[in-house]
Amino acid sequence: MSIAKENAAMAAMEFIETGMTLGLGSGSTAEIFIDMLGERVAGGMKIQGVPTSQRTADCAVEAGVPLIEPDKITKIDVTIDGADEVDPLFNLIKGGGACLLREKIIAQASDRMVVIVDDSKMVETLGAFPLPIEVDPFGLSLTADQIYAALKQTGCEEAQTVLRQAKDGSGPLVTDGGNWILDSKCKVIPNPADTALALSQIPGVMEHGLFIDLADVIVIGEADHAKVMELSRE
Ligand code: 5RP
Repeated sequence: MSIAKENAAMAAMEFIETGMTLGLGSGSTAEIFIDMLGERVAGGMKIQGVPTSQRTADCAVEAGVPLIEPDKITKIDVTIDGADEVDPLFNLIKGGGACLLREKIIAQASDRMVVIVDDSKMVETLGAFPLPIEVDPFGLSLTADQIYAALKQTGCEEAQTVLRQAKDGSGPLVTDGGNWILDSKCKVIPNPADTALALSQIPGVMEHGLFIDLADVIVIGEADHAKVMELSRE
């Protein structure tokens, strides 16, 4: 377990209060947070979690964190989630764990999104991490062509996409929602909001991993402490 990720997860606890409904993100940093949350629940804290993936749901059950279906709630107080890249304006690349669609549904429905990362995830410009794009398998090559054009038109330095494969070699990776993932090696995404908008207009794109104007707090874990950065959107 990375100590930097652990420090980030620990510092994020200050945003959690008893009585809250929490969005539970996906990935190794989110899982560390969920384990810590389980300890708080065992100590008497009353919260309920909305998981952003089946793996997170399994992890929460194991940690003893009570879960609730998204259709049974009207609001989420705070979502805690990891990220693959974070820029100085709190724009994110997410989806390294292929959970971006559900992560974005839950983040957007939350009053506050707290992102927990180690310091390796902080970048000046997004794009070195391949941008995950969740697509409908139907008409894949047509969608891939439109993605290529959208990335180029919005100034991305490169735009090749690769279909993500399952780790067990069984074929394309299938997301919890039954879709596939194209990873786009953009190298540099100079205008993330323009790229996000262009990708959203392609019918075969179910969702993309650019999270624009969603993160309110970034907690950056380092070896011996965590730094908390907050953005006010008011
Ligand atoms: C999953 C994600 C993760 O939050 C992201 O990949 C970061 O993961 P980790 O905490 O393991 O570095 O977006 O879809």
